[in-house]
Amino acid sequence: MKIIQLATAALILWVNVCLAQAPEPKSTASFKPGERWYDNKGELINAHGGGLLFDKGMYYWFGEKRGQSASQGISVYSSTDLHNWKAEGMALEKSADPQSEIAVGGLMERPKVIYNPKTKKYVMWFHLELPRQGYKAARAGVAVSDKVTGPYTYLNSFRPNGHMSRDMTLYVDDDGSAYHIYSARENYDLRITKLTDDYLSATTQDTLMFSNHREAPAVFKKDKQYYLITSGCTGWAPNQASLHVATSLFGPWKLIGDPMKGPMADKTFDGQSTYIQPVQGKKDAFIFMADRWNPKDLKDSRYLWLPIKFENAQPVIEWMDEWDSTVWAK
Ligand code: DGJ
Repeated sequence: MKIIQLATAALILWVNVCLAQAPEPKSTASFKPGERWYDNKGELINAHGGGLLFDKGMYYWFGEKRGQSASQGISVYSSTDLHNWKAEGMALEKSADPQSEIAVGGLMERPKVIYNPKTKKYVMWFHLELPRQGYKAARAGVAVSDKVTGPYTYLNSFRPNGHMSRDMTLYVDDDGSAYHIYSARENYDLRITKLTDDYLSATTQDTLMFSNHREAPAVFKKDKQYYLITSGCTGWAPNQASLHVATSLFGPWKLIGDPMKGPMADKTFDGQSTYIQPVQGKKDAFIFMADRWNPKDLKDSRYLWLPIKFENAQPVIEWMDEWDSTVWAK
């Protein structure tokens, strides 16, 4: 009798171990913010502080590949439906040359990629910190590729018009002009620079947006208004988001308040903004993307993607445990 009980217990234990190790289902039809998200190979998606690019019918997700804390380059994933992501490998690897600005030991954060139809090149900008200097260098790095998934060729880095440049995003306006929005002056200033026609450099059209000590900028446009969501500056710890609005990217920018609603709204649902993606083929459908950082294991930081709603014509973001594209029809 005892042997049967022992055998049953062992079997139950074995089944539980197997279940715990089973890969997540590879196909999904909804967003589950804050849960672990897996790619087509059953691996954790490792693309933090990222941004999306819609190109020729496909979404591409570029982000920071992280180890437990190390910055390991820029990864890229592709998807047709924004739920199921195929690992496309590394868009930009760390350089094996110890003299390189992108050698191991430095940081590559918040990559964003845009397509230049004039040069037919994909252009990546990111926040670059030089090896072994912590966050001192505060530079924008630029890389370029003929192919959306890369590999991207690293070009150079600089401080736009001499300004420190840390957290950043890129934005391409309807007329094809592109802009770099970045935290400057030890993050006390948020600035915007128009890019050159080839998108590879900053022009001298460079303006202070506001000096509210903000980072993690994410921008979108609706009804000729530009909306900008930012975070405060508390390292990896979450803080309160704010929303600004303007009729011109060069301002003036008006502070509206915190667009988050519901439990944990005052801490951006334990997250930090990174990008806002318009959903193709749907009017006024935008996805707010944020990172829930896990500083003890950065690669296991989670993704919080939530739909942007409009209440009294103002953007509002509410927490949802699970949601899908039917939200846009409502
Ligand atoms: C906040 C920034 O938004 C992140 O990208 C990262 O640089 C952390 N600070 C590091 O503490």
